[in-house]
Amino acid sequence: MKTAIVFYSMSGNTKYAAKKIALKAGADLIEIKPQKTYPDKGFRKFIWGGKSAFMGDTPKLLPYNFNADKYDLIVFGYPVWASNFTPPIKSFIKENKESISDKAFAVFACSMGGGAKKSIEKLKKYLQIKDFKATLSLIDPKDKPSEENEKKIDDFISKLEF
Ligand SMILES: Cc1cc2nc3c(=O)[nH]c(=O)nc-3n(C[C@H](O)[C@H](O)[C@H](O)COP(=O)(O)O)c2cc1C
Repeated sequence: MKTAIVFYSMSGNTKYAAKKIALKAGADLIEIKPQKTYPDKGFRKFIWGGKSAFMGDTPKLLPYNFNADKYDLIVFGYPVWASNFTPPIKSFIKENKESISDKAFAVFACSMGGGAKKSIEKLKKYLQIKDFKATLSLIDPKDKPSEENEKKIDDFISKLEF
């Protein structure tokens, strides 16, 4: 089974986890970025990113390389913003709606407080699927490395395999 990890990361935590999962699961990494970058410092980052997530924005993305035909499973990775999945992920799904409609999905979400559940429910609704193959919630895996996070990543990967 061929897997794509489609992720957005503002400050590296999601990217850190995405790389680990890709390496261990033998998956391809597809990093998506908005054309207009969000402020990533101080309070402005919470205000702009939070507002964008709350409003359900779909920002234009920079070009990325993704051929849906190559994959059976798509793993989404994102930082939780205002209890939601991040807008670039929403843009990606909107842009690829048709071509990914027959895929299996899994998701990992990074957050500061572990509040990923709501965002995962929202993503499930947006994808219009019954369930994810596997879900994973990590607390700032790059900034706060822990054995618990590593164990959770391994457990998540084991669920991705058929
Ligand atoms: C705009 C914004 C909103 C956030 N909202 C939440 C939130 O609702 N709950 C939470 O636990 N963490 C929240 N965070 C923290 C990030 O989800 C967390 O630090 C994550 O690990 C960052 O991932 P990254 O380094 O890949 O960007 C928010 C961060 C930003 C910038």
